[in-house]
Amino acid sequence: MSAHASEKTMNLKLIVWRQAGPDQPGRFETYDARNITPHHSFLEMLDVVNEDLIKAGKDPITFDHDCREGICGTCSAVVNGVPHGGQQRTTLCQLHMRKFSDGDAIYLEPWRARAFPIIRDLMVDRGALDRLIQAAGWVSCHTGGVPDGNAILVGKPAADYAMDAAECIGCGACVAACPNGAAMLFAGAKVSQLAALPQGQVEAPERVAAMIQSMQENGFGNCSNHYECEAACPKGISVKFIARLNREFHKALVLEKVGAVTKAAPSAGG
Ligand code: SF4
Ligand code: FES
Repeated sequence: MSAHASEKTMNLKLIVWRQAGPDQPGRFETYDARNITPHHSFLEMLDVVNEDLIKAGKDPITFDHDCREGICGTCSAVVNGVPHGGQQRTTLCQLHMRKFSDGDAIYLEPWRARAFPIIRDLMVDRGALDRLIQAAGWVSCHTGGVPDGNAILVGKPAADYAMDAAECIGCGACVAACPNGAAMLFAGAKVSQLAALPQGQVEAPERVAAMIQSMQENGFGNCSNHYECEAACPKGISVKFIARLNREFHKALVLEKVGAVTKAAPSAGG
């Protein structure tokens, strides 16, 4: 997107974390973002800066992105200390430069959490969230003929509740915002979404036990009720799903006494 001659543009300073690789030392570097319009998205602004860097023979800033429409969860950077930039229910790709003013200085850092090692500059490895899903974010179903759409009825309140949880796009901002680097909001959304539906209830105890175990194995911390995760979440995922995660875990502990949960898992709480 280029600026029209009549359009008001701004010039900004970017103070960006640059790190050549996972084991390399990082540092902040300052760049000019010139001729940025209020209509540029944040990522388009970075594209403009990168074009200037490439023209000058310098390394462009590495950052993650895919859909650029707020649904894939790939974009990720901490802007002025806040994951996704702090506009409520807005991913970084949907943040627009009209939120900034000419002359602003903007600090840009990668997600910082033990479970998310830095790959380069603003890009981190969020494979740990994928491993949580591999461990427990699924339901078993029989293959074969196509099931009748009405075979398992789901009540409207349960369907709405599950849809609210299913809004999680797996971006990891909750982890980056949490002082403990916990993935409880992400895990709570996934466990609650499936536990709310009849199709997910059969494996609910095993699922929550495996999810908690995987969180611990992958280096995530525990929840201590700061609620920074909910504040940073671009999809408005509520901390009520963390409470549901803890309830499901305690139900699983009780069931374990009668042999329903095969895998012993450590406590979900702090
Ligand atoms: S709960 Fe929110 S912040 Fe966390 S991964 Fe899902 S969408 Fe991102
Ligand atoms: S790039 Fe897909 S949500 Fe931002």
